[in-house]
Amino acid sequence: MTDADAAPGGVGVVVVAAGSGSRLGAGLPKAFVPLRGRPLLAYAVATAARVPHLVSLVVVAPEGHTDPLEPADPLWADLTLPPGAVVVAGGAERTDSVGAGLAALDPGCEVVLVHDAARCLTPLAVFERVVAAVRGGAAGAVPGLPLVDTVKTVDVEGRITGTPDRALLRAVQTPQGFEREVLLAAYRSGLQATDDAALVERCGHAVVVVDGDPLAFKVTTPDDLDRAERLLDRAATLRA
Ligand code: CTP
Ligand code: MG
Repeated sequence: MTDADAAPGGVGVVVVAAGSGSRLGAGLPKAFVPLRGRPLLAYAVATAARVPHLVSLVVVAPEGHTDPLEPADPLWADLTLPPGAVVVAGGAERTDSVGAGLAALDPGCEVVLVHDAARCLTPLAVFERVVAAVRGGAAGAVPGLPLVDTVKTVDVEGRITGTPDRALLRAVQTPQGFEREVLLAAYRSGLQATDDAALVERCGHAVVVVDGDPLAFKVTTPDDLDRAERLLDRAATLRA
């Protein structure tokens, strides 16, 4: 985040890390759980900090844990944020946390990415593809992967009501990127949706899917943490 990066069309990244991690059940907020000695959030922030033309990096942390320099806060003991990064408190739902992060972004950014700290191994190339799509004219862009399983729609009794064409389905990941004004307006609209892209879609904007990456999977359960550890170990072996 140097002056040279503060070019028109700068990028802002909000990393949401305020969730409790109830399904992981590690006894501390998921983003602060160590993965081979470093918190998940450290990986996510390290990649976000390398996004070209970054002008604003906001980390949304659990309430009561917003001072990374507080020596008495064990959550931040193994984590150093890049200079200029801002930490704000999240809320009860992910949308509350994203909203808090958006409010803290530098107004100078034109493209905003919202990223889950839990998708800690997401490669930089995914961030770059999302930014490129928004810069290329899309109101929003999300990384997505084709599905391997066939998907069914069901009614409340569990009876199958349909089988969508799998070729037309994508499992979406983060970072999700948007023109800043579009995302802010979507959050102001008061509409509810299950992800940021859906909120923007509901406001009538076209959101495109770019290629995601299997490494952008979300650490949700203890099995996912094991998988992330194995991937890191394999990467270390390949480098050796
Ligand atoms: N998140 C957040 N604020 C919340 C809820 C979630 O910032 N109130 C963040 C999480 O920290 C995570 C991302 O949103 O990086 C995706 O959420 P999820 O995987 O559901 O994480 P948790 O809510 O922490 O996990 P769980 O649902 O198992 O409690
Ligand atoms: Mg959750």
